[in-house]
Amino acid sequence: MNFLTSLADRDRVFDFLVPVDSPVDVRHGPILYLEDVTVSFDGFRAIDRLNLTIDDGELRCIIGPNGAGKTTMMDIITGKTRPDTGRVWFGSRHDLLTMNEPQIASLGIGRKFQKPTTFEALSVFENLELAMAADKRILPTLTARTSGEIRERIEEVLTTIGLVELRHRPAGILSHGQKQWLEIGMLLMQRPRLLLVDEPVAGMTEQEMERTAELLTGLAGKQSVVVVEHDMGFVRSIARTVTVLHQGSVLAEGSMNQVSMDPRVVEVYLGAEADEEVA
Ligand SMILES: Nc1ncnc2c1ncn2[C@@H]1O[C@H](COP(=O)(O)OP(=O)(O)O)[C@@H](O)[C@H]1O
Ligand SMILES: [Mg+2]
Repeated sequence: MNFLTSLADRDRVFDFLVPVDSPVDVRHGPILYLEDVTVSFDGFRAIDRLNLTIDDGELRCIIGPNGAGKTTMMDIITGKTRPDTGRVWFGSRHDLLTMNEPQIASLGIGRKFQKPTTFEALSVFENLELAMAADKRILPTLTARTSGEIRERIEEVLTTIGLVELRHRPAGILSHGQKQWLEIGMLLMQRPRLLLVDEPVAGMTEQEMERTAELLTGLAGKQSVVVVEHDMGFVRSIARTVTVLHQGSVLAEGSMNQVSMDPRVVEVYLGAEADEEVA
């Protein structure tokens, strides 16, 4: 029963991953552009006049205390939540506010959720293969040549995520960190242009965190990557530009050193820590 439910879920995820031939136009600007975006839940402004620009190939870290609106921001980009006002563009050609979740995913926006969606009983290789089979352009026309290309792509992704040696082991035996990498690998099978990753190192060991830092920094340049993360040490290890979200809008933006010395950022973080201690 559980397996069937997850199969159905998986299918839904796959629907989101089907790429279409509509190249992103970044000749005249950023790959992702949010302007004056606001969304309220029962009168509470979770996102409040948010402006955000991500360049093509950039690795951006988004930090901010609990409730700052980080996950809601990703929900808006991926079409899960519709903002009340504002503009959201993918390159200069695609107005994301006119599109639904599967359409947005098909443009090449991949999102990694915290909850893993790998098939435990299937091997690492088979999980990657399945992620590819979601590509409905390929599946109906599967020939010896395309299946050769898929195998090559799987090998490439296995190397990227550091699971070459574990390719034939069931996903169920992977460590928490390795599962997260497999998950990223499954997104990479679709060659996304923009990857959104929510709290990738939660629950990871130091060593897994280091490996994840290498993985994400290695992806930047080939695709744009937006990482939402709580762990400051981790952010420091990968960050180029950091955006600090607070109460649904940008509080500060710059290098990790710049933002961590910003008195407003210090105040918000100290405040958040004090809250957590009380809670
Ligand atoms: N679907 C929703 N309905 C009502 N409130 C929501 C919903 N989604 C998020 N919120 C609220 O919006 C705020 C921002 O949440 P979230 O984006 O999850 O923050 P973060 O990811 O930065 O911790 C929180 O106060 C949260 O309770
Ligand atoms: Mg969140």
